[in-house]
Amino acid sequence: MDWGLKNRMSKIIKPDTGRSVMLAVDHGYFLGPTSRLEDPKKTISPLAPYADSIMLTRGVLRSSVDPSLFNSVVLRVSGGTSIIGEDLANEGIITCMEEALRLNASGIALSIFVGSKYERQTLLSLAELVDSGERHGMPVLAVTAVGKELGKRDARFLALSCRIAAEIGAHIVKTYYCDDFEKVVDGCPAPIVVAGGPKMTEKEALELTHKSISKGAIGVDMGRNIWQSEHPVPMIKAVRKIVHEDATAKEAYDLFKKLAKNK
Ligand code: 5RP
Repeated sequence: MDWGLKNRMSKIIKPDTGRSVMLAVDHGYFLGPTSRLEDPKKTISPLAPYADSIMLTRGVLRSSVDPSLFNSVVLRVSGGTSIIGEDLANEGIITCMEEALRLNASGIALSIFVGSKYERQTLLSLAELVDSGERHGMPVLAVTAVGKELGKRDARFLALSCRIAAEIGAHIVKTYYCDDFEKVVDGCPAPIVVAGGPKMTEKEALELTHKSISKGAIGVDMGRNIWQSEHPVPMIKAVRKIVHEDATAKEAYDLFKKLAKNK
């Protein structure tokens, strides 16, 4: 890896622990004003100090994030479809590399839709971004298994998607936790971060975080299970405790309850 690429990677994956807490706030790009993310500034501001990286679109970055913010940014650069459109998988590139560099992003992210009608198109976009990323020192995060593909959330499918993303050259791969998750991790030579998925209880989300980390994920890229919690700051702190301090799910949940009570 070139110096610039390594430097950017170190802003996303913390070198002291080799782990990462990414805060996903990119949902509006296909879901519109998602519950509790209607006003992105309100959602992001209190959480930003506790996230190693924030994943979002350029529009929300410009409108809703203070540029003096210390945290790093992973810019979502794929999109062009919506939840009510014909097919969510029919994504293209919506933000160019020059813009990502101008916005001082530490990484760029796109979704790939393995098994869909648009598999080839999204995989070729990943290949183009990786070529460009290598030229410019910009890490590329491939997001697997969003939308309809979510229905196929088992180890065989996720291992296939993650491995293909890594083979094409993704520097980080984002996927979902599943049974036999270690098979997904073992088959993927790139570091894996786990998405939280739809809102569950805080206890369940912390258990999911713990299982993901103990089975080899290097972190989370979590959204709804943090900012749709009644207590988002205690929740992100509890997630950090697992990711960066190897806390058990119980220790993290006890911390969450204590912080939520003292608010
Ligand atoms: C959608 C995404 C989201 O960032 C991802 O789903 C993570 O958020 P959540 O934890 O809410 O599932 O990449 O394409």
